[in-house]
Amino acid sequence: MALLQWSEKLSVGVIEMDRQHQRLVQLINHLYDAMAAGKGDDVKKQVLGELVTYTKVHFAAEQCLMREHGYPHLIDHERLHDQLTAKVVELNEKIQSGKMVPSVSLGTFLKDWLVTHIVEEDKKYGQYIRVPVG
Ligand SMILES: [Fe+2]
Ligand SMILES: [Fe+2]
Repeated sequence: MALLQWSEKLSVGVIEMDRQHQRLVQLINHLYDAMAAGKGDDVKKQVLGELVTYTKVHFAAEQCLMREHGYPHLIDHERLHDQLTAKVVELNEKIQSGKMVPSVSLGTFLKDWLVTHIVEEDKKYGQYIRVPVG
């Protein structure tokens, strides 16, 4: 069973960003399934590499969008993105160097890593963009 399920609860109300979040959900599920099924290291490494790359693409796109709309909390949001990127890069380095990471703790980490950020932070810019203040 998939670790994460996309639902309207995760929607930030911006179609392109929802689409990118869905892609991240897909990559995390793919990685989790590969780990849970005891797939070879190459599969995990490849999917995690893709996750790192796509994370950077997505964060850059969000920052661009926030900048375009004059979102007032851009700097704070960028800082959070930097922290999230560092965490996934660190995880990637662990996996690439062959360290064991239990699939349960990895799953919990990634779920929290993505969902918490969307619900607690991304929804704020979604709200701001949809209902501009002033
Ligand atoms: Fe996001
Ligand atoms: Fe974000």
